Amino acid sequence: MHRLSVNLDHIATLRQVRGTQYPDLLEAARLVQVAGADGITLHLRGDRRHIQPADVTLIRAFELPLTLEIACSAENLKYCASIRPHAVTFVPERKEELSTEGGLNLGAPGLKEFVNEAVLSLKDAGVICCLFLEPDPETIRAAHAMGVRMIELHTGTYAEATPAQIAGELERIQKASALGSSLGIQMNAGHGLTVANVVPFAADKNLFEFSIGHSIVCRSVFVGLKAAVQEMKQAIG
Ligand code: PXP
Repeated sequence: MHRLSVNLDHIATLRQVRGTQYPDLLEAARLVQVAGADGITLHLRGDRRHIQPADVTLIRAFELPLTLEIACSAENLKYCASIRPHAVTFVPERKEELSTEGGLNLGAPGLKEFVNEAVLSLKDAGVICCLFLEPDPETIRAAHAMGVRMIELHTGTYAEATPAQIAGELERIQKASALGSSLGIQMNAGHGLTVANVVPFAADKNLFEFSIGHSIVCRSVFVGLKAAVQEMKQAIG
C-alpha cells in the first residue's frame, strides 16, 4: 500500500489571506491522521506566503512524520538540522511562482556541493535528505551518486499534460521510479495530483509515498477534510 503525506500549505493559505487565527493547522493535522494519512508535509517558503516557522514547530511536535519542503540555502539547512523533521525535501523556489514549477537542476552552480553537505549534516541530525527531481534517468543517477536515498519525482508535467502527452509522461515517471528503486532509493511522487489522475500510479510498486495537498484541500470544501483524505488514500492504492 502506498503512503500518503498530506500537504497542509493551503490550510495555512486560508488563514494568511485574512490574517486570522483560523483555520487551525493542528485541528487539520488531527483530522488527516484520523482519515488515515501517513504523514504531513509543509512547505516553508522564503516569502512565508502560507506556512510560518511557528506552524513547523507545531506540526513537528505532532505524532505523524513531518516532511519539510524548503529551498536550498545554508541558512535553511541549519534551520532543518535544528528542527529535525522526519525528512527534508529540497525544492527550487521562485518568488514569482504560484507553486513549485519543477525539480531541482543538479547542474546549477553550487548545488552539487550543497547537496553533498545537506546529505551529511542532515544524517548527523537524524533527518532524511530528499530531493525534488524531474523523472529523468541521468538526474536520478546523479542524485544517487551524491548519496541521496530519498527522491520525490515531480508529477506536475504529467498532471498538466494534454491527452496526447499523458502516456509519455506516465512512462517517464514509471521508468524513473523503477530506476530509483533499483538503486535502493525511496521513490516518492507529488505535485498536481488528484483523485482522478493519481489512479495510474496505484499499481506502481516502485513508488512509496505521495505528497498531495491542493486537490485534497479543494475537495475538502465540499466533503470535509477527513473524507477528502480518505478518498485520496483509497485512490493511491
Ligand atoms: N511536492 C512538492 C515538492 C511541492 O512543492 C508541492 C507543492 O507545495 C507538492 C508536492 C504538493 O503539490 P499539490 O499541492 O499540487 O498537491
